Amino acid sequence: MTGFTSIKYFSDNVGESVTIRGWLMQSRGSGKVRFLIVRDSTGITQCVAEEDTVGTELFDLAKGLGQESALKVTGTVSEEPRAEGGFELHVTSLEIVGESVDFPITPKSHGTDFLLTNRHLWLRSRRQLSIMRIRDEVVTAIREFFRENDFVLIDTPILTGAIGESAGTLFSTEYFDLGNAYLAQTGQLYLEAAIYAFEKVYCLGPTFRAEKSKTRRHLTEFWMTEGEMAFVDSDGNMDLQERLVSFVVKRVLELRAGDLEALKRDTAHLKKVVPPFERISYDEAIKLLKDQGKEVEWGKDLGGEDETILTKLFEKPVFVYDYPKKVKAFYMKQHPDREKLVKCSDLLAPEGYGEIIGGSEREDDYDRLLFRIREEGLPEEAYGWYLDLRRYGSVQHSGFGLGIERTVAWICGIEHLREAIPFPRMMGRIYP
Ligand code: 4AD
Ligand code: MG
Repeated sequence: MTGFTSIKYFSDNVGESVTIRGWLMQSRGSGKVRFLIVRDSTGITQCVAEEDTVGTELFDLAKGLGQESALKVTGTVSEEPRAEGGFELHVTSLEIVGESVDFPITPKSHGTDFLLTNRHLWLRSRRQLSIMRIRDEVVTAIREFFRENDFVLIDTPILTGAIGESAGTLFSTEYFDLGNAYLAQTGQLYLEAAIYAFEKVYCLGPTFRAEKSKTRRHLTEFWMTEGEMAFVDSDGNMDLQERLVSFVVKRVLELRAGDLEALKRDTAHLKKVVPPFERISYDEAIKLLKDQGKEVEWGKDLGGEDETILTKLFEKPVFVYDYPKKVKAFYMKQHPDREKLVKCSDLLAPEGYGEIIGGSEREDDYDRLLFRIREEGLPEEAYGWYLDLRRYGSVQHSGFGLGIERTVAWICGIEHLREAIPFPRMMGRIYP
């Protein structure tokens, strides 16, 4: 046997001698047997080292291995229904590739602060492996969905000159002789330009908000996928979103069942995520909140707590549409009959999770958009190109942005966004 195999392929190798490469997650045993739990990129398996088979020297070596030692293990594959993955490897030889002494994250429980400081090592823990695999599946499914639905990928810039969402949460940096550049809060404005070339477009990338709030729902750097569609109104926008979210959840249920189980996620909730989703107006949302005894004032934005209460009234994700203009971004289209409202929608994930998508129909009229830019006190000169889009073949259009971490956190059933991204960026944390 010359090459290496991966744990995932053990079923093809029963009774044969194979070599795997990986890291030692745990080692236990007594007397003349040692059980080494080894992880590679494809799975986790139990390697059984018996002193009588491997000899005393190798056995002692196995006994002394530290957690997270990198190893090459050769042995014979056998079926073992009681072992993780259903197979085990009977060790015939063992090579230490990289030693590991006193790995800081042990099977005992650690505080969150300690784990975040050691995020570079924490990523190897079982729970984190499952979350990151689900994240990978979510992103893969999103790209697949857009492709199947004839969207073109448009990579939008990270360094931008115009404020995309709100002036209050900008990261800015000096940009040569041109003054300040901002880290993108959204790719939307650029996607709007691209619909005139491709009609249906999307982006998926990092976005930045200098959020001074320390909540479980906010990161300063988060990933967002945004879609933008020509000839689509606010209702059509919601139709597309509920199809996208349902597709993503279905994919994770199909392809990452083992990881959901490892996270002890109750999948009954996720299985209900199929179109159509309930749609309630902002007016109705305020009424529902009042009925629940929550003190809310018409005209204010819904807070995290309000969203939590609302989502508990529905089994599936729920849209809240047509918010007051005052609490939403400048580019949203004014409601045709009620000038205090805009044609927008937020999608709230169930079980208390709250907003995962923000979307709207866009103001497509030149004069009204200019009026809104002025009204919001935004620097008009930075929006010349954006206004141009309303001068050359302007059409009704809508779009949305789905937060990747919020979606992953909900699907995984985890409390805080910090575990839904490999290296979280928050107000008080920039390392590792
Ligand atoms: O609602 P938001 O601010 O919408 C936009 O940025 C629009 N330009 C999108 C569009 O219409 N193209 O953000 C969209 C989503 C939110 O629903 C939320 O899931 C996520 O992005 N999000 C955050 N996620 C983590 N940390 C933060 N600080 C977030 N801010 C927004
Ligand atoms: Mg929003």
